[in-house]
Amino acid sequence: MKLTLHVWRQPAPTAPGKLERYEARDVSPDMSFLEMLDVVNEGLVEAGRPPIAFDHDCREGICGSCGMMINGVAHGPMNGTATCQLHMRSFEDGAEVTIEPWRSRAFPVIKDLVVNRSALDRIIAAGGFISARTGSAQDANNPPIAKQAADDAMDAAACIGCGACVAACPNGSALLFTAAKIAHLGLLPQGQPERSRRAVRMVAQMDAEGFGHCTWYGECQDACPKEISIDTIARMNRDYVAATMASRAENVSGGTG
Ligand code: SF4
Ligand code: FES
Repeated sequence: MKLTLHVWRQPAPTAPGKLERYEARDVSPDMSFLEMLDVVNEGLVEAGRPPIAFDHDCREGICGSCGMMINGVAHGPMNGTATCQLHMRSFEDGAEVTIEPWRSRAFPVIKDLVVNRSALDRIIAAGGFISARTGSAQDANNPPIAKQAADDAMDAAACIGCGACVAACPNGSALLFTAAKIAHLGLLPQGQPERSRRAVRMVAQMDAEGFGHCTWYGECQDACPKEISIDTIARMNRDYVAATMASRAENVSGGTG
C-alpha cells in the first residue's frame, strides 16, 4: 500500500505548528498504524530529518498513551480500537490521511503528536483510590460482590486514560474518564467509605484543570477505545448530587443545632 500523510509537526509547545506532507510507501495492510509511522520515521532519520514524535508504550491497547486524531477522528476509523491496534487494512490503498494531536485546552502539545495528559493523572490523584486499610490480600471470592456490580465495575475499570473522550468532545469535557474512574471504585464494597468524597474531589479537580462540562453530545462514548458507556456519567452525576445534598443537609443541621 501507498498512502499520503499530512502530519502535524510542532517542534515545541509554544512554537507554531503546521501540517507536513509525507509519502508512506511499502506499507503492509497487516502493519499497525504505529508501525506504519515507524517506517515513515526510519525514512526521515535516514534522510537526516527529524522523526515524527508520537506517544506509545504497550502497543496492545492497555496503556492509553498512543492517542491521535486520524482524519479528524480520535483513534481513527475503527470503533473500540486504540491507535496502536488500528491496522492499515482499515485504509484504502492510495488514501490521504491527516494525523493530528489531541486538540484540547487541557492537553497542551509537547511536540508533534505528543500532548501532555497529566491533567488526567491529577484527577485520579484527587480521589481515584481507596485508603481504607484492607489487611492482607483476601481470597478473590471472599468479599461478596453482586455479579452485576462486579461486571459494571470491571467495565468502568477498562478505561485506559487515553483522553480520546476529551479530544472528541466539542466541550473538551473529561466527564467520561472521570466518571469511569469514580464508578469502578464506587460500585465495589471497598470503595464505599470514600464514595461521596471521591466524586466531589475528582469533579472539582476536573473543573480546575480547565476541562469543559458535559452537554450530552455522546461523542465520548463513540471515540472510547474501551467502549465505556455514557451511562457511567449518569451514575457519577447521581453520586455527585447525593454527596452535595448530604453535605448541605449536614450544614443546615449544624447551623440550626
Ligand atoms: S473513558 Fe475511554 S476515551 Fe476516555 S480516557 Fe478512558 S478509555 Fe480513553
Ligand atoms: S500504545 Fe498502549 S494503548 Fe496504544
